[in-house]
Amino acid sequence: MRPPIDSGTILITGASSGIGREIARQLGRRARTLVLVARREERLEALRDELAALNPTLGVVVERCDLSEPDEVDALLARLDKHLVNVDVLVNDAGLGDYGLYEQESWGRIHQMLQVNVTAPVLLAHRLLRRMLERKRGGILNIGSGAGLIFFPGSAVYNGTKHFLDGFTESLRLELMGTGVVVTQVAPGPVDTEFGEVAGSDARIGKPPSWLAISASRCAREAIAGFENDVPLVYPGFVYRWLMRLVSLLPRPLMRAAGWIVARRLRYGSSLLEPAHPDPRIKQRVLIAGGPEES
Ligand SMILES: NC(=O)c1ccc[n+]([C@@H]2O[C@H](COP(=O)([O-])OP(=O)(O)OC[C@H]3O[C@@H](n4cnc5c(N)ncnc54)[C@H](OP(=O)(O)O)[C@@H]3O)[C@@H](O)[C@H]2O)c1
Repeated sequence: MRPPIDSGTILITGASSGIGREIARQLGRRARTLVLVARREERLEALRDELAALNPTLGVVVERCDLSEPDEVDALLARLDKHLVNVDVLVNDAGLGDYGLYEQESWGRIHQMLQVNVTAPVLLAHRLLRRMLERKRGGILNIGSGAGLIFFPGSAVYNGTKHFLDGFTESLRLELMGTGVVVTQVAPGPVDTEFGEVAGSDARIGKPPSWLAISASRCAREAIAGFENDVPLVYPGFVYRWLMRLVSLLPRPLMRAAGWIVARRLRYGSSLLEPAHPDPRIKQRVLIAGGPEES
């Protein structure tokens, strides 16, 4: 079973940047209509003009929408309904992360992550799925993250949102088997996009090593290929794919232990030799969270 990409109508969230924009570029050669969704309208318009010039028969609809506002998502869907746009394929790509200790994150940012990474993809899938089932064809491509399959101190909420997407996508896929609707999750590792800048991780821990990172266009290409072949979970990038295959075999206590080493460094800047609960009189180096040095 293949998702109806060719001559289909495809809605892509997060199309103004990174992986979503590359998915739009690659699907634009084959789809009938693309619906491009994000907040930065001028970028979507520039992409529309680029795609229209390259693919004269393609229809491109630009939809400015803040996905952290469920009312805006409903309004977007109402507009599509009004113009009789039937979405064949939904690409839930939009997402954002953060980096730092949980208690130091602002609630506003946490809420935004929950809304964009969890509520919006689930709401869009809920609203669009029934029609796909009526037509007995459709596809949902969810962009999760490798962070959704491991424990990642320093981005507990982002990590949690992607764990949610993992469970949601795998379970939904099972529910939809044999219905004509294809469901695939992509769990990228480091991809060269604006993600690290938005999350603040580039500034705090630096960019990921170049041997592990891949380009957004490669990520998009492998994501689409996996989706078309009805692969449940896609790890884009050769090195990262093998790393994740190994990591996914690790028992949970071992994953916890690896995470604990990272967490200690994050909170205390400590080495393994220092106590797990340092005496407050001992100088603590709060390296990454940006807190003051105590003595
Ligand atoms: N890059 C990586 O290393 C990496 C690794 C694993 C997973 N991922 C996942 O890949 C997906 C795409 O990320 P990316 O790497 O391409 O990052 P990116 O370049 O920062 O793109 C993020 C996209 O999400 C959209 N977005 C964010 N907040 C939004 C909101 N409130 N409303 C509507 N759209 C919003 C942005 O559009 P506007 O700002 O214009 O609204 C942008 O188009 C995310 O789900 C991310 O979790 C990325």
